[in-house]
Amino acid sequence: MLTLSTYKYYANGEWKESESGQTIDIVSPYLDEVIGKVQAITKKEVDEAIRFAHEAQKEWAETSLQQRAAYLYKWADELVNMQEEIAEIIMKEVGKGRKDAQKEVVRTADFIRYTIEEALHMHGESMRGDSFPGGAASKVAITQRVPLGVVLAVAPFNYPVNLAAAKVAPALMAGNAVIFKPATQGSISGVKMIEALDKAGLPKGLVNLVTGRGAVIGDYLVEHEGINMISFTGGTNTGVHLAEKAKMIPLVLELGGKDPGIVCEDADLHEAALQIISGAFSYSGQRCTAIKRVLVHENVADELVTLLKAEVEKLSVGSPEQESTIVPLIDNDSASFVQGLIYDAIQKGATVVTGNKREQNLIYPTLLDHVTGNMHVAWKEPFGPVLPIIRVKSDEEAIHIANKSEFGLQASVFTKDINRAFAIANKIDTGSVQINGRTERGPDHFPFIGVKGSGMGVQGIRKSLESMTREKVLVLNLAD
Ligand code: G3H
Repeated sequence: MLTLSTYKYYANGEWKESESGQTIDIVSPYLDEVIGKVQAITKKEVDEAIRFAHEAQKEWAETSLQQRAAYLYKWADELVNMQEEIAEIIMKEVGKGRKDAQKEVVRTADFIRYTIEEALHMHGESMRGDSFPGGAASKVAITQRVPLGVVLAVAPFNYPVNLAAAKVAPALMAGNAVIFKPATQGSISGVKMIEALDKAGLPKGLVNLVTGRGAVIGDYLVEHEGINMISFTGGTNTGVHLAEKAKMIPLVLELGGKDPGIVCEDADLHEAALQIISGAFSYSGQRCTAIKRVLVHENVADELVTLLKAEVEKLSVGSPEQESTIVPLIDNDSASFVQGLIYDAIQKGATVVTGNKREQNLIYPTLLDHVTGNMHVAWKEPFGPVLPIIRVKSDEEAIHIANKSEFGLQASVFTKDINRAFAIANKIDTGSVQINGRTERGPDHFPFIGVKGSGMGVQGIRKSLESMTREKVLVLNLAD
């Protein structure tokens, strides 16, 4: 049982109370009660944290990769040691099932270890001058990667530990310092993750955890001249706003999605149904990579809908403490948004195959058939457990509808014909296309890319290390 605590923020290796004297209540999405309070820090405290980060970064950039690795290995070990305690917090704070929350912590430790190993094996390159016309062999360029300085890492509520560490670990291995801003709902999990880092003995000031009201410190952080790179995961509207504010600061954005599951007539429909349901409904669809629409060939649509219905009706609905797949959404507004999409579709002629039931912020898994382009649910990202089915006449129509979306994160194509799979995949405007599998980010060393409204830049362990460094060229002019 959690006791109600007031959590401090973390700057210069110390846990501190804000001089604002203000805190923010964190309300559990399913217990409907305040489970803790976090500090609402001031702009002055943000300035101090960034100053500490710069001071610490200067020395950190001089440390060897092996020294950095030693700290991060300890961090990974501490996370594994604390996995039950952290999972309990994740469950209570963001309503994720205990087992999934625990998996998130272990996945994070694995992520950190792989990041260390990747960073240890990244090398620069050299170039001879005489490979260009008129160039001299006595000129040699040595290209190395150098840190950017202070990275602002902004994490979302749905993976409050994993998607935070996925920014902090590569930033540190690359020689940067970090200002970590968790999602407000997710801040306590972020505090716990930093406790593990603190136990690992990381030099003070290198990672600073700032919590507070977006209206006070949000834009202030993004526009701060002490921030040298921003890595953000969250909603598309916030991402676009952030990109406008950040001006010339390097940015990596992982934003929303409307991932289609395209089902061809020749697909293994049973397998496709299993993948689609797992892709669409795990953690109540609160994943950027969830399958958020099905585009199915009309000849097999009835059969697929029957299979999907059967699978949806098997999903457990209730509390994360009982390991239910369908859990209350993060807050009431999110549930009202999803319910609004369902009502709009029904009014415009969609058929409810199953679901359309709400208890406060718990939305039962809902399957909508005969969805058409005039319905909001065909285009908007619900971040909740509703799956629209759009019937199509051809692969071309499926591709057209898939690409009409403002988003471009991932897509799934289900077919037994590999040539057809590639023909479709090659025409889809998304960062990745999964063939005969659900949309998902992992394994975490794969490149993870959002295009259009789904983001900017590339994540995935190696790509994150690259995005948090820049190339620097030393040119040797040797004596002839
Ligand atoms: O919500 C966004 C995450 O990057 C999705 O990660 O595919 O592992 O659930 P996931």
